[in-house]
Amino acid sequence: MEVSELKKSFKEAYGQEAEAVYFSPGRVNLIGEHTDYNGGFVFPCALSFGTYLLIRKNGEKFVQFRSLNQPEVVKVTFDKLTERLEKSWANYPLGVFAQFVKRGYTFEQGFDIMIWGDVPNGAGLSSSAALEVVTAYALNDQLGTGLNRTELAKIGQKAEHEFALVNCGIMDQFASANGKKDHAIFLNCDTLDFELVPVKLEGVKVVISNTHSPHKLDSGAYNQRVAECKLAVEQLNKVRPIKYLAELTEAEFEKIEDAITDPIAHKRARHVVGEVQRTTDAVKALKEGDIELFGKLMNASHVSLRDDYEVTGPELDTMAEEAWKIEGVIGSRMTGGGFGGCTVSLVKDEAIEEFKEKVGKAYEAKINIKPDFYIAEIGNGAMKVE
Ligand code: GLA
Repeated sequence: MEVSELKKSFKEAYGQEAEAVYFSPGRVNLIGEHTDYNGGFVFPCALSFGTYLLIRKNGEKFVQFRSLNQPEVVKVTFDKLTERLEKSWANYPLGVFAQFVKRGYTFEQGFDIMIWGDVPNGAGLSSSAALEVVTAYALNDQLGTGLNRTELAKIGQKAEHEFALVNCGIMDQFASANGKKDHAIFLNCDTLDFELVPVKLEGVKVVISNTHSPHKLDSGAYNQRVAECKLAVEQLNKVRPIKYLAELTEAEFEKIEDAITDPIAHKRARHVVGEVQRTTDAVKALKEGDIELFGKLMNASHVSLRDDYEVTGPELDTMAEEAWKIEGVIGSRMTGGGFGGCTVSLVKDEAIEEFKEKVGKAYEAKINIKPDFYIAEIGNGAMKVE
């Protein structure tokens, strides 16, 4: 939708013009999965699609949330801004308001808010982080709180923890806040130091394949993985004090891995330690122009997420395995939390049509769902549009 149409919808809904328009993107992670909450590296990039937020100060003591993607209109009075709603899409922006209140910022008057997004929902491309970060970015601007992008990402992450009840890492919100056109973000999730690495690939595109099987990133399976990693850290602490699994090299891990007596926690830890190494190696390969090696590491990442981390499932496995069969595919893996959602692939220009055709057909024949393919455009992070 064009911004002018969004403004029109705002006026229709609230009877007044919007005073400002903000945008924050979804993301795709190229490699480094389930490493962020383990203090490891990730390598995501912001996408050109994302979430818009239109806003006006309303002179009242309440905030109104509307979305063109959701029928439910939510009105929250100032005294309720820190209370999670039982079941509502508005928990994402409300959770961000709550964080501002908890940090001691005060509101002189309320806001009328309208949201619209074009990140496919439940595709694992961070529609929720885009919504959280656009809200944080807008409030920061409206209140003049002067927080930097990293702080805004942290606010979004906290909102996700407390209002969506997912104990996520920082990757999604960080990518949405700090993305840069044609770059991926090599982020150390422990220190939050990051480097922007160009991903303008000669004759190669980043293709996102949507399994259309909802990624079901509920508090259940995801939080369970977070807990399993914590258990692995606890058991390793009997032989070596560490805070995060990512502190261990593969060689160090091999020496002490027997201390993890829980077999599930052991597999999870093995994935994390290997994935951190793969991410470092992949970024080095990309910088050196060795795209073939980058692709092999993507494939290895998928295998590890399938066998050790167990977050893929038949949809993502079929999508990746069918992609691997195509000659012009440099690498392919699941991206995001897993359990459905999307894969990300590097595909040579001349193989893209064949990719869509063959992978699409094979996937549909096996899974009985028609997939979608998008050529990723790597865009900028959160911004004021007007
Ligand atoms: C989800 C979470 C992220 C990250 C990924 C897996 O997208 O929100 O913090 O853990 O899963 O890499």
